[in-house]
Amino acid sequence: MTDQPSRSAPLAAALLGATDLLAAVISGRTLDAALAETALSATPPTGPLRAAVMDLAYSTLRSFGRGDFLLAQLMAKPLTDIHVRCLLLATLNRLETRPEHAYAIVDQAVTAASHLAAGNFKGLVNGVLRNFLRRQDELLARAKATPVAHYQHPAWWITRLKKDHPHHWQAILAASNTHPPMTLRVNLRRITNADFSALLTAAGLTAHAVGEAAWRLDKPVPIEQIPGFREGLCSVQDAGAQRAALLLDVHPGQRVLDACAAPGGKAAHLLERLPEAAGLHLLALDADPARAARITENFVRLGLRSNHVRVRTGDAGLPATWWDGQPFDRILADVPCTASGVVRRHPDAKWLRRVSDIDRFIATQIRILDAIWRTLASGGKMLYVTCSLFSAENEAQVAAFIGRHADAQRLAIDDAPSVQLFPHADHDGFFYALLQKN
Ligand SMILES: C[S@@+](CC[C@H](N)C(=O)[O-])C[C@H]1O[C@@H](n2cnc3c(N)ncnc32)[C@H](O)[C@@H]1O
Repeated sequence: MTDQPSRSAPLAAALLGATDLLAAVISGRTLDAALAETALSATPPTGPLRAAVMDLAYSTLRSFGRGDFLLAQLMAKPLTDIHVRCLLLATLNRLETRPEHAYAIVDQAVTAASHLAAGNFKGLVNGVLRNFLRRQDELLARAKATPVAHYQHPAWWITRLKKDHPHHWQAILAASNTHPPMTLRVNLRRITNADFSALLTAAGLTAHAVGEAAWRLDKPVPIEQIPGFREGLCSVQDAGAQRAALLLDVHPGQRVLDACAAPGGKAAHLLERLPEAAGLHLLALDADPARAARITENFVRLGLRSNHVRVRTGDAGLPATWWDGQPFDRILADVPCTASGVVRRHPDAKWLRRVSDIDRFIATQIRILDAIWRTLASGGKMLYVTCSLFSAENEAQVAAFIGRHADAQRLAIDDAPSVQLFPHADHDGFFYALLQKN
């Protein structure tokens, strides 16, 4: 942890807060883990400072490819002090987004540097940043001609997307660098769309409908400002994720397995679409006990608990440990994946992932799919879902599954064999394929 500058240097404080988070990510931790650690520190940033720190950290990670490239051009040799390096990356990001305040930003960065490494790098920080301001036209032109700096994704990621989506890869990369939308899911068991829309208006929020129960806010707001959230009238869920409950084609009285359910967004949506009396028998399973606890919390908040709804910790790949032997009519297989379709929400992920992670996820997906298929009734349906854009986890995974299981056939979705949603202003990137057991 860095120590804090005085109250008269708000940007310096935000730069230092972001520096701590970036240093944790560069050392291999996720941004979520780094944020959780910061929240537990002696003086966690709060209020506007916290918002400024988060904004800087997310923005710097989204454009890390360019910042890292620029820094390499500006330094004769790589910086060994990781905190000073992160301070420079965050400041370069701020200089690009707020060029009109360039000299004030550099002054604040130098103030911030006086709180790092006993102030030994103040002169270096000042020199590097002023050098950037002098040479920025030339350096930014060079960045534009360098794929990792221009598209702000790792080289292997760009290569994959080019191969998998030759007509869309540039639009995908551009969308993956934008700020994500904030979309709400109305709990239709508790309130109608019309009444919920009136609540939004009364709270001064504007939104437009992007799905059966999906409202995209024109401007994201902190969760405390969302009317009815605490009371369970709505949840935060991307419109792309909200397609799952519609596609699974669930009917009253059916036995349904959500094999990878935490934190319970799609499972809750399945329940919300039917009246409680419809008596859907749902088992929400997740391998991670802490995450499984969040399913229960969400069900309680949304008023979805009943005798027919069970939440369990268990490995979907080992049905013997959780299955009572009664076949399911429907299975939702929202498997762990690279999450390459949602990186704008987790910009650290694209820099922390390695290409070898794809094979690891594929193996886990195969293990889960083959195991839960055995628990599906004849005539039953399984919806395969990922928030990935890589076809090895999507189309190729489903084709291989059908190759291994003679009793599996695909059902069309919107007249197509599967659906690949690309990240977009209204939704994230998702893949859906629907399979039926003969
Ligand atoms: C994409 S997330 C699920 C999101 C969830 N369906 C929702 O809509 O809120 C994948 C989940 O799979 C869980 N998981 C990973 N391996 C698993 C396994 N072998 N068995 C069951 N769950 C697993 C993870 O803990 C994670 O919560």
